[in-house]
Amino acid sequence: MDALASSTLGWLYVGVTTLFGVTMLFVAKRSPMEKRNVLVWSLLPMALALLCAATLGAAGGLGVLCATSIISAVYLGARTMLPVGDKAVLITGSDTGFGHALAKYLDNLGFVVFAGVLNKDGPGAEELRQTCSRRLSLLQLDITNATQVKEAYVKVSEKVQNTGLWGVVNNAGVLGLPADGELLPMSMYRQCMEVNFFGAVEVSKTFLPLLRKSQGRLVNICSMAGGIPLPKYAAYGASKAALSMFSGVMRQELSKWGVKVAAIHPSGFRTGILGTSELWDKQEKELLENLPADTRQDYGEDYLLGLKSYLPQLVPHCNTDLSPVLSAILHALLARRPHGLYTPGRGAYIFLCIFCYFPLWFYDFFSSRMPSTESVPRALRTWEAERKHF
Ligand SMILES: NC(=O)c1ccc[n+]([C@@H]2O[C@H](COP(=O)([O-])OP(=O)(O)OC[C@H]3O[C@@H](n4cnc5c(N)ncnc54)[C@H](OP(=O)(O)O)[C@@H]3O)[C@@H](O)[C@H]2O)c1
Ligand SMILES: *[C@@H]1O[C@H](CO)[C@@H](O)[C@H](O)[C@H]1NC(C)=O
Repeated sequence: MDALASSTLGWLYVGVTTLFGVTMLFVAKRSPMEKRNVLVWSLLPMALALLCAATLGAAGGLGVLCATSIISAVYLGARTMLPVGDKAVLITGSDTGFGHALAKYLDNLGFVVFAGVLNKDGPGAEELRQTCSRRLSLLQLDITNATQVKEAYVKVSEKVQNTGLWGVVNNAGVLGLPADGELLPMSMYRQCMEVNFFGAVEVSKTFLPLLRKSQGRLVNICSMAGGIPLPKYAAYGASKAALSMFSGVMRQELSKWGVKVAAIHPSGFRTGILGTSELWDKQEKELLENLPADTRQDYGEDYLLGLKSYLPQLVPHCNTDLSPVLSAILHALLARRPHGLYTPGRGAYIFLCIFCYFPLWFYDFFSSRMPSTESVPRALRTWEAERKHF
C-alpha cells in the first residue's frame, strides 16, 4: 500500500515538474529579454522541491514544488514582456540625457522611434541621425509650442496609419537654478510649470486618441523631487509633483480604455540637466535682478553667489550609468503588467518610503543629511554671533 502511494506520488511529482518546466520554456521563448530571470525562477522551485523531497519525503517535496511554482509563475507573469514587434514610441526631449539615450536604446531593440527634439539642427539630433536605424524619425518638437505639438501629431499619425502609436514618453524637462523658494524668480516657477507640466499635459492630450486606439502606454518622467519635498527644488519639485499627480489620475481614468500609465521618479543621474556655467550665470543674474534689496541684504552676497556651486557639488553623487532609468521605462512600455510608479536610482525608493511611512519630523531630519552646501544666510550668521555674544 505504502509503495503504491509513494509511486503514485512519484509520478505526480514527475508530472508537475514536467508541466512546470514546459510552461517555463514556453514563457522563456516568448520573452527574449527575460531569459535569465525565467531560468532562475524555474530552477529555484525545482531545487527547493528536490531538497524537500530528500528531507521530508515525496509528499513534502510535491507540496513545496506546487507552492513555489505558483509564486514564481505569478512573479514571472508580472515580469513578462510583450514583444517589440513594430511598436512605435514617441519620446520628447531627445536632444540629450535620458531622452537621447532612450531613443538609441529603443531603436536598438527594434522599436519604431519618433524622437522629438528641441532643436532639429542641434548636435543631439545630428547624432541620432547618424547612429540610429532608418526606423527612427526626428521631429522638431518644443513641447511648449502648440503649433509644433500639432505638427508632430500630424507627422506621427501619417506614419503610423496601419500599425498605430504604442507609447508616448514625456521626458522633456527643465531644472532651473536650484535655490531657496523665496529667492527663485517668478519666471523660474513659470518656466518649470510651462515645460515640465503644461508641455507634458499638452503632448499627452494630443496623442491620447492614438494611445487609446492601440491600448498603449503613457510614460511620464517625473522626479524624486516631485514625490518628496527637497530643499532648493520648490519650482522644479512643484512642477514635477503636478506631473506626478496628473499621471496618477490619468492612470485611473485611462484603465477603462486599456491604456496603462506610469510615472518614473528617478534620483540623480549625470545628464544635460546639470547644465553649463553659462546657463547658471544667466539664471543667477535673473535671480539677483528680481530680488528685493532687504532680502538680498538678509541672505548676503556670498550666500547668493554660492547657489551656483550647489549643482557642481552634486555631480559626484549622480550616477553616470543611465540604465536603471532606461530599464524602468522599457518595463513601463512592454511589461504585461507595468507598475504605476518606478523609482530608479540610488536613494529614490528609500526617501519616498521614509516620507510616506514615517512622521514628517523624521523625514525632515533624514533629508537634512543630504549633500548640500554648508552656507548660511548672512542675517542668520549675525544673529547667531549676537546670541553667542550675550
Ligand atoms: N538627470 C536627473 O538626475 C533627473 C532626475 C529626475 C528626473 N529627471 C527628468 O528626466 C527628464 C530628462 O532629463 P535629463 O536628466 O535627461 O536632462 P537633459 O539632458 O537636460 O534632457 C532634457 C531634454 O529636454 C529638452 N527640453 C527642454 N525644454 C524643452 C521643450 N520646451 N521642449 C522639448 N524639449 C525640451 C532639453 O533640450 P536642451 O538640452 O536643448 O535644453 C533636453 O534635451 C527631465 O524631465 C528631468 O526633469 C532627471
Ligand atoms: C512655434 O513653432 C512654429 C512652427 O515651428 C514657429 O513658426 C513659431 O515661431 C514658434 N513659436 C514660438 C513662440 O516659438
